Amino acid sequence: MARGSLVVVGTGIKIANQCTIEARYHIESADIVFEVVGDRLAQSFLLSLNQNVVSLQHLYGRDRARSDTYESMIETILGAVRAGKRVCAAFYGHPGVYVYPSHESVRRAREEGFEAEMLPAVSADACIFADLGFDPGWLGCQSFEATDFVINARKFDPTAVLILWQIALVGDRTLRVFESDPRRIALLAEVLMEDYPADHQVKVYGAATLPIGEPQVQTLPLSRLAEAEITQESTLIVPPVGEAKASPQRLALIEARLAAA
Ligand SMILES: C[S@@+](CC[C@H](N)C(=O)[O-])C[C@H]1O[C@@H](n2cnc3c(N)ncnc32)[C@H](O)[C@@H]1O
Repeated sequence: MARGSLVVVGTGIKIANQCTIEARYHIESADIVFEVVGDRLAQSFLLSLNQNVVSLQHLYGRDRARSDTYESMIETILGAVRAGKRVCAAFYGHPGVYVYPSHESVRRAREEGFEAEMLPAVSADACIFADLGFDPGWLGCQSFEATDFVINARKFDPTAVLILWQIALVGDRTLRVFESDPRRIALLAEVLMEDYPADHQVKVYGAATLPIGEPQVQTLPLSRLAEAEITQESTLIVPPVGEAKASPQRLALIEARLAAA
């Protein structure tokens, strides 16, 4: 029997247009393609490349914790690898950005002695830097999953850009929530107002997913964040307040270590 293998790819955020040449190649040449790419158009794109596409989307369920869904996804993918197939698993965006089953499938496949790799792809933050016209290197940029940010009271630097992912689900610890709730968004705003002024202008961002679409950007003060239209695809961008200041201790350290002998 042929030895199974796994390649995990991302299709990018904008359907078809952001799928890399190497991801396309692996989608086309796989024996079977498992997909979690979001919508029907993206699925049709995959079907145009390979007739043997199996959706794993049905594994999500309102009465089911996402952790169970992820476990089923991983075991379905691994089952095909164990059966000797060349498997491609396609996720939307970058397959390794805020996606658990992709990393875990590669880890388990390797642990079992199969060839497995993940390819990079265009993620939502790659779209942010292009659409909103800033470079993460200019002022520094930090990103957190929104629930992690709130629950773990993450230490962060308000003088650098802050990107918060999965804001629709912020505060959910059940892993059974699928829709945004203004009460949870208001709570996130309250937490952010510990470090930013209430009138600080933030952006709720949605990258275009259709080749002819435009990004959706809602700019509003933190105090009114709960009024924003927030979907599962929304990402929050909080611009910096204040400026980073050089530390005299660090300057002295550089001087001491690197001064010409
Ligand atoms: C489970 S993560 C998947 C991220 C994806 N793998 C990527 O590479 O961007 C879902 C989160 O990604 C962000 N996201 C996904 N699609 C987006 C879009 N079209 N525009 C903006 N952010 C998006 C949102 O923060 C959303 O809650």
